[in-house]
Amino acid sequence: MIVTIDGPAGAGKSSAARSLARRLGFRFLDTGAMYRAVTLAARERGLDLTDGAQLAELADRIHVELVDDRVLLDGRDVTTAVRKFEITDAIHYAADNPAVRTQLVGWQRAAAANHDVVTEGRDQGTVVFPDAQCKIFLTADEEERARRRHADLHSRGEQIPFDEVLANQRLRDHRDRSRSVGALVKAADAIEFSTDGLTPDEVVAQLEKIVRSKQ
Ligand code: DC
Repeated sequence: MIVTIDGPAGAGKSSAARSLARRLGFRFLDTGAMYRAVTLAARERGLDLTDGAQLAELADRIHVELVDDRVLLDGRDVTTAVRKFEITDAIHYAADNPAVRTQLVGWQRAAAANHDVVTEGRDQGTVVFPDAQCKIFLTADEEERARRRHADLHSRGEQIPFDEVLANQRLRDHRDRSRSVGALVKAADAIEFSTDGLTPDEVVAQLEKIVRSKQ
């Protein structure tokens, strides 16, 4: 069974999807981590991110693996590095690049082949797994999402002012919704679910109910 969870940044997708996968005994796919790893690889090599062809060629050459909660780039653990603010800030070059997207969609389908999966991203229910049995579109209030992101960065030692986190999130929301390929949009058959006012445990319990009702 394939369960897709799409939605804007900071809606709580990653932690909800990870816990949900654990409860169901499914594989968890953090597709944002793949776009992050491509961006990190490009930054490390000093690549010009605006050079779409070079970026696509790089995505073709590197090996990104999601093992449990770890992100491996050519075998190296980059779990912490990919979540840095400077990577988030530059991610649109990879996310907006159609050739990179095609490559990563291939990785995502390969990772899900012959497995029960909870996959999380922006285009999972629309582009990558249009036939998924259970599609969820997770949302939350904009300021609440920015507060979570701000607290998350703070807990990892990145002191970014709240206003900057909010402004960055607005820009990313706009880019996520308006890119020509793989844009963030609710699939017609997705169930919209707001995490506002719910604890992480309550969110996962509700999502589990939705999935069980589709099994
Ligand atoms: O979920 P996240 O914050 O780790 O995602 C980082 C960026 O990657 C996000 O701004 C948009 C992009 N992304 C995407 O375009 N498609 C996906 N399936 C997942 C993420």
